[in-house]
Amino acid sequence: MSDRATIELDGVTFDAPVIVGSEGERALDIRRLRLDTGLVTYDPGYGNTGSAQSAITFIDGEAGVLRYRGYPIEELTDASFLGVSYLLIHGELPTSEELERFRRNITLHTLLREDMRPFFDAFPTDAHPMAILASATNALSTFYQDHYDPSDPDDVEISIYRLMAKLPTVAAWSYKRSIGQPYIYPSNELGYAENFLSMMFAVPAEPYVCDQDVADALELLLILHADHEQNCSTSTVRMVGSSHLNLFGSISAGITALWGPRHGGANQDVVQTLMQIHESDDDVKAFVARAKDPKDPFRLPGFGHRVYKNYDPRARIIKEIADRVVGKLVGADPLFEVAQRLEEVALNDDFFVERKLYPNVDFYSGLIYRSMGIPLPMFPVLFALGRLPGWIAQWKEMTEDPHTRINRPRQVYVGAGYRTFVPTDER
Ligand code: CMC
Repeated sequence: MSDRATIELDGVTFDAPVIVGSEGERALDIRRLRLDTGLVTYDPGYGNTGSAQSAITFIDGEAGVLRYRGYPIEELTDASFLGVSYLLIHGELPTSEELERFRRNITLHTLLREDMRPFFDAFPTDAHPMAILASATNALSTFYQDHYDPSDPDDVEISIYRLMAKLPTVAAWSYKRSIGQPYIYPSNELGYAENFLSMMFAVPAEPYVCDQDVADALELLLILHADHEQNCSTSTVRMVGSSHLNLFGSISAGITALWGPRHGGANQDVVQTLMQIHESDDDVKAFVARAKDPKDPFRLPGFGHRVYKNYDPRARIIKEIADRVVGKLVGADPLFEVAQRLEEVALNDDFFVERKLYPNVDFYSGLIYRSMGIPLPMFPVLFALGRLPGWIAQWKEMTEDPHTRINRPRQVYVGAGYRTFVPTDER
């Protein structure tokens, strides 16, 4: 196989070296293209652009394969979320001592500074919790200005602990704000998922007992969302971080990117759509017809993926959890039945088959959150809590990579040619 590709235009030749990844993926190295030829590449949506060499997550979208640091996602389902976070951030599975130290360092930072409490009170009660999460994450930086230098490894380490520890507290408090209940402080003897559930659902008036099956399912969902290579929010974290911004601000930008309905906001949309279908006498086919209509902007949320052209391996596992947990928590859920019917109809429809549109990670996750009593607007927040270690790992890899330059794409200008300014009274 050739290790160079030649691009020829108007008598100018450019020899592009071929970079080969550890799983055999090949990429053209065009870093010198503009310098040598004056040409740039045009790739809106970056569908063919490799923006980084990364050793964190491998996806084979055609085969439906997802691996974190080489481990298939299916084999990580018995690990703990903090163990998987360690793996993503540090590259290896932790020994029990390393995991214990990591856990202890995180739990030391679960409290928010008391002077952050009024921030929550200042938001409208119906504020979307993703807006609160992004704002509060950025606001965290204001408390740690002496310890957030992205080029200082000690500052980076403590910022990682602070973010991993405090984001569940921020997330739960944004929910408490929306329902007017007292904020519940973190409890360091609880596991990561259990502590979050306690801050969400406990009230000071009575003891809270967490259902272990619910905590286990949440832990697993966090693991399944933990990283997904160069998706929109991760690329945002890298993009913002490439300007040498601190970790808090970079993660805040990633949370905002995740909020969009084409990205992490889709889990909320899925359940809303399932409710609409149920209210319309379970007319699944009408919604599938709308999704296929080129004149209708409606798309089936939870279907399709830029990279997967096969069943999303996360969706497969999430469907199994949904089968178990939704049944146990709420019995026969009509929305789960609608979802399964929708999947069946779509997977047998030529439009979806031809375009290789399969259920993605967001299709069944919302039904599980809903059965746990988590309200709709909190669904993308749960996605963000899961994705946090991936964002951190990717940001760290980017800052440590000697090839990193500020991210600054080129463009193809198609606006007006040169013209001279016309004063207002002459226009
Ligand atoms: N329903 C109906 N048609 C769809 C859908 C869908 N969910 N997804 C893609 N298509 C069609 C699209 O209209 C286009 O058709 P045509 O070739 O006739 O114009 C074709 O499939 C290719 O779509 P695309 O928009 O070029 O694909 P993309 O890779 O740019 O977009 C996507 C990927 C995930 C944004 C898109 O599939 C989508 O909007 N899905 C619904 C939202 C969703 O579930 N998002 C969560 C993604 S997974 C988790 C995450 O990243 O957060």
